[in-house]
Amino acid sequence: MIPAMSSINDAREVARRRLPHVIYEFIIGGAEDEQALRANLHAFQRLTLRPRVLVDVSVRDLSVSVFGTRIALPVMIAPTGLARLAGREGDIAGARAAGRNKTIFTLSCMSSHTIEEVAHASSGPLWFQVYLWRHREVVESLVVRAKAAGFQALVVTVDVPINGKRERDLRNGFVVPPRPTLHTAVDILRHPRWVLTLRPPITFKNLAPAASPQQTIAHAKYFNEVLSNPAATWREIDWLRDLWQGPIIVKGILTPEAAEEAVAHGVDGIIVSNHGGRQLDAAPASLDALRDVAEAVHGRVELFLDGGVRRGSDVIKAAALGAKACLIGRPWLYGLASGGEDGVVRILEILREEIDRTFILLGRRSFTDLDRSVVGSSRNGEELAHATPHQR
Ligand SMILES: Cc1cc2nc3c(=O)[nH]c(=O)nc-3n(C[C@H](O)[C@H](O)[C@H](O)COP(=O)(O)O)c2cc1C
Repeated sequence: MIPAMSSINDAREVARRRLPHVIYEFIIGGAEDEQALRANLHAFQRLTLRPRVLVDVSVRDLSVSVFGTRIALPVMIAPTGLARLAGREGDIAGARAAGRNKTIFTLSCMSSHTIEEVAHASSGPLWFQVYLWRHREVVESLVVRAKAAGFQALVVTVDVPINGKRERDLRNGFVVPPRPTLHTAVDILRHPRWVLTLRPPITFKNLAPAASPQQTIAHAKYFNEVLSNPAATWREIDWLRDLWQGPIIVKGILTPEAAEEAVAHGVDGIIVSNHGGRQLDAAPASLDALRDVAEAVHGRVELFLDGGVRRGSDVIKAAALGAKACLIGRPWLYGLASGGEDGVVRILEILREEIDRTFILLGRRSFTDLDRSVVGSSRNGEELAHATPHQR
């Protein structure tokens, strides 16, 4: 039985109660002053939707096509490392829930289940996410395994040349592999049910010994000293192109210039993202960046957005500004913390119901019915209707 939850905010509240503070703050936190994190949410709230009235909206279609795969709603699951921190079934629950909702689950290379376990458990389409780490051979072996396991697309996250400064984690003493320390023991022991998730131990299950934490270490220190590669360039994308024949999607693009480079390097898709406000704190909100990127890309690659999507109406706003689909990071972890696989299913259902209701109230029948004229601004009433037809 999952608790009654009628919004993503409700699910976040359940997660807050169920998780130790150190874990909850690892999930909700952003970098430094959390400006980018807040900006993501505000960007959606600043926009209004301009309803059409007295149109027949008795039949609606929420599905979209992503690289030729039809998904039932344009909400996909974003890659999040160490998902088992939020709930025992971790990535398996997420992949199954996505499959039940006929949408895509993206597995992080920092996952706490293996590539093969998730592929085996899942019934729906899967994407696999990698970072451009300093150990090329580690990245290569992950990509080869994901291909063999039948993952459909490769997501390459490019906004982590170094870990963002997440001060909640520093204050709380968040370490990997996650285990109680002197600093966190009392907090953790106050959540006896959560303690069960620590068996078997939560580790980066895909990583070879060379890339695994050798002892308990602060998360950021591990990332910066063992994995990340500030020397990575667009050449790495060319290298991956030779290894991976399916779609390559670059995640973490926020400017038209970077989008142009991505297109020039032959990627198939772009996720406009500021990593949920966890990296460059002065980054623009993903939704604000989307407009410019959509104009620059002009339909040459498929565009997606993540960061701050908490309502069905957010998905509609992003679609009107050019995103084919959105990804959710924290919301799926709230669902996992609230009720495992069923909790994640509930999150996707909430968003589906909200999208459907918003379509009716908005006088629209499907995502092909949207363009920029749907969106207005609540700040000064200035409308964006001048813009070109939808670029999805
Ligand atoms: C706990 C957590 C772990 C994450 N781990 C990864 C990761 O391993 N790889 C990655 O590309 N992005 C990672 N992200 C970023 C998400 O993929 C996504 O960009 C972000 O969460 C979207 O914002 P939202 O949480 O507001 O939906 C992580 C985010 C969170 C909250």
